Amino acid sequence: MSRKLVAGNWKMNGGASTLAGLNDLAAAYQEAPIDIAVCPPAPFLAHADHIVSGSAIEIGAQDCHTAASGAHTGDVAAGMLAELGCAYVIVGHSERRADHGETNATVAAKAQAVLDADMRPIICIGESLDQRKAGQTLEVVAEQLAQSVPDTEAVHQLVVAYEPIWAIGTGEVATIEQIAEVHGELRAQLVDRFGEEGVGVPLLYGGSVKAGNAADIFDVAHVDGALVGGASLKPDDFMPIVNAMLARV
Ligand code: PGA
Repeated sequence: MSRKLVAGNWKMNGGASTLAGLNDLAAAYQEAPIDIAVCPPAPFLAHADHIVSGSAIEIGAQDCHTAASGAHTGDVAAGMLAELGCAYVIVGHSERRADHGETNATVAAKAQAVLDADMRPIICIGESLDQRKAGQTLEVVAEQLAQSVPDTEAVHQLVVAYEPIWAIGTGEVATIEQIAEVHGELRAQLVDRFGEEGVGVPLLYGGSVKAGNAADIFDVAHVDGALVGGASLKPDDFMPIVNAMLARV
């Protein structure tokens, strides 16, 4: 069985008051039998890590470069994030794939850079609405998984997030059947590729997860947690999602 993970992705949102909310999270979760992570924008990472230190909350970044250092103005290397105290880095989010033309190969290289820096990559995959309508969902996510997850011996460090693009930030959640179908396929592929270790890779669902739907989503087979966008910005929205997972372990 994989350890459960609820991760918040602030995207390019947040500020002083959002950071202050981390005090509430840190106070509420001094210890936890699940993993809990918050991924603020890069400029807030050090401050965020300071606020949650000593609690069960870990900090993650939202992206990194593939290289360890070099002439890449504006970019951030995985090793720098590790030095700041990050435990996770989201790679291949659909917004980065769309905004920055990231390919599966780029995403795999970023995930490898994260592993090399002893952090856990949260590797995102998911189909577009057109692809779903065309009946290509399983084919698309299988290819993304195969090509975005690097060949590694650190299988226990991997996290995969299935985020249907049409469900991100739209309020439209995939149905339980849709989530079950994709997560079942992803698990089978991970086991095929990594053997028994593939069973332990946390498979997160992402896309309009909130307090009202988290429990039902967490009950789906092979759903080991959530990657939460909008509902991770305020403790009052995020904590019920974390609590829904805590009630299941
Ligand atoms: P959302 O975003 O929860 O706001 O839909 C999820 C994500 O993009 O990670």
